[in-house]
Amino acid sequence: MSDRLNDSRRPVLHLDSPAYGGDWSPEQWDQATWSRDIELMIEAGVTMITLGVFSWARLEPKEGGYELDWLADVIDRLHAAGIAVDLATGTASPPAWMAVDHPETLPVDFHGVRLGFGSRQQYCPSSPVYRERSRALAAQLAERFGRHPGVVMWHINNEYACHTHECFCDVCAGEFSAYLAARYTEVDALNAAWGTDFWAQRYTGFEQIRPPAAAPTLLSPAQVLDWRRFSNRQLLQCMTGEKAQIRERSALPITTNFMGAFPWLDYREWAQHLDVITDDSYPDPADPAAAADVAWAGDLMRGLAAGKPWLLMEQAPGAVQWRERNAAKRPGQLTQWSLARLAHGADGVLQFQWRQSVRGAESFHSGMVPHSEAASRVWQETKALGRELARLGPVIGQPTTADVAIVIDWESEWARGAAIGPVNDAEPFESARQWHRTLWESGVAVDVIGPDDAVDTYRAVIVPALAIDRPRLAARLETAVGEGTRVVVAGPTGIVDDQLAAITGGYLGSLRDLLGVRVIDFAPAVGIEPMSARDASASRITRATIAPASHEWIGIEPAGPLALDVASDVRGGRWAEEVVVTAASESVPGAAVVGTFDGRGAGVDLRGMPAITRRRHGEGSAWYVATDLDAASRAVVAHSVMREADVRPVLEALPDGIEAHRRGDFLFLLNHSDEAVSVPGMAGTELLTDAECGQTLPLAPRGSAVVRLATA
Ligand code: GAL
Ligand code: ZN
Repeated sequence: MSDRLNDSRRPVLHLDSPAYGGDWSPEQWDQATWSRDIELMIEAGVTMITLGVFSWARLEPKEGGYELDWLADVIDRLHAAGIAVDLATGTASPPAWMAVDHPETLPVDFHGVRLGFGSRQQYCPSSPVYRERSRALAAQLAERFGRHPGVVMWHINNEYACHTHECFCDVCAGEFSAYLAARYTEVDALNAAWGTDFWAQRYTGFEQIRPPAAAPTLLSPAQVLDWRRFSNRQLLQCMTGEKAQIRERSALPITTNFMGAFPWLDYREWAQHLDVITDDSYPDPADPAAAADVAWAGDLMRGLAAGKPWLLMEQAPGAVQWRERNAAKRPGQLTQWSLARLAHGADGVLQFQWRQSVRGAESFHSGMVPHSEAASRVWQETKALGRELARLGPVIGQPTTADVAIVIDWESEWARGAAIGPVNDAEPFESARQWHRTLWESGVAVDVIGPDDAVDTYRAVIVPALAIDRPRLAARLETAVGEGTRVVVAGPTGIVDDQLAAITGGYLGSLRDLLGVRVIDFAPAVGIEPMSARDASASRITRATIAPASHEWIGIEPAGPLALDVASDVRGGRWAEEVVVTAASESVPGAAVVGTFDGRGAGVDLRGMPAITRRRHGEGSAWYVATDLDAASRAVVAHSVMREADVRPVLEALPDGIEAHRRGDFLFLLNHSDEAVSVPGMAGTELLTDAECGQTLPLAPRGSAVVRLATA
């Protein structure tokens, strides 16, 4: 039976207050430190500890020889202290014996190099030995601890694909051709789907097909796309294989930790197999836009959870160590970003890790108990956060409602990455993140949904650069627009089908009718350093030559009766398309041009062509944006669409730096600025202080408040 059908019997995670704690690695410490750590956990208000993530070498020091007593001791001690355990299966880093006795379990990279032992995640996802040994370990743990009252959740593996998202070994090669044989049945079906008559790539048997490893030049895009699907499946099988072992022996909820909008795994598919969604999130404190990442990841996880709980499984209490340079969190930021996760739907906040290591690759990664222990600000903030979370029990399980949705699609990301051109430098989910950020900055609540989710419950839906044409999504959007939803589609969208064949007759494919436009061709800007005056003086021909695409931006002029709200300087970034408006008929109104390329910047040859269009359909409207608007211009378009859709921000007229987010009857207010700010008063009680809200609610620099709104 599929997990979806199983919903009513889904194991539940019971929480009285937001889960709080982190990864603990007792194997790195002596028993005296264990005792001290548990005292400190109590002092910090820790309620949940993740154990065993990297314990395999201690749990099974010899193949088949398990030593679980030490872990039982640790779990018992935590349980006696009232601290729940999220128990990991420990399969993320196999022990040395596996590398030595079964070297074929080590993964092979794109260049055919077999990776060695001495780091982590050194396993081939298809390896029968790895799969068998990891399932056996999961079974051992589930058998022993599956009914332990101190264990509340299973944590399978750790950050699947974080380092090894694909393997090019012979086992994987054999599995790949078997996968293709099952998918296509006849090799000629594969030949047709992959277009193997290009460059004489035709196959006469599935056994001829190898993974898309290092080759003289560009690989077959359709082969790479199927390889993405295959690699995702191999890892998912590792996870479900362990899950099955646990399920036979334990009824506790099961998770595996995600990494935000991680491009290599289709988390929408994975999420269906999990009882609790968990996320690891490490925004860079040096980046002023880090809070936008926190919000994006939160909205993404809430969407993946689809009504199930989600927890932040990892964040750094202070600095990480794996960037080139690693900024510390600012005072107050740990609490603020933690509450931001709760605001966006999380029911818990855990960190990596409890006690900062003194040896190994992560000794300069912060811990809740830092090297300097009680003297450190991180420890003081760790305790303060524990006290604050303990007050937020009422927030658990409270829903968020949003009027706007952004659609994302992992397969489209794979397709975009596998396609050669039209541009090859887009960041994963870039357009979705940009539109999310625009709405977040304007205070509007957003859901992040998948291409198969319902769209008709939203006032506005953004479809940002979805490479694959999705006819069923197009049909659902059309119905929703007919009933009043506003849809914004941003290019490049609908440029290939789900086998990477280019859409002919005008891109946008099945969205052409709804939008009333066709995309005829691409005209991206490239952005080339302008020549220096010195060089120009010696370049008689070159200095007279115009190359519009060398610019970094593209000018747009508001046009027509529906001209955009603000008479501002509207600009695209580095993406532009040639669009034609499809002729209107009496029954079908045409699209109106809302903005045209005005010839500035890279748009010289596009002058007068539509850049932004809007078509009325039924009660709603469908907008098309043929360029990657810059932030200011995106805000202008979003404002017009939101006004038309009657979407309001969570709170009107918020001061600079203030994020407001509603969860049920609770209003989260987060001051991201360095200034003390007073937010206009609202009737309610502030949960962190128990204060009644008055005329104004004062927020310290980087301070936060959670208001239980008085119900009218
Ligand atoms: C995560 C990982 C943790 C730890 C952390 C450091 O990717 O799951 O084990 O390595 O990064 O930031
Ligand atoms: Zn392999």
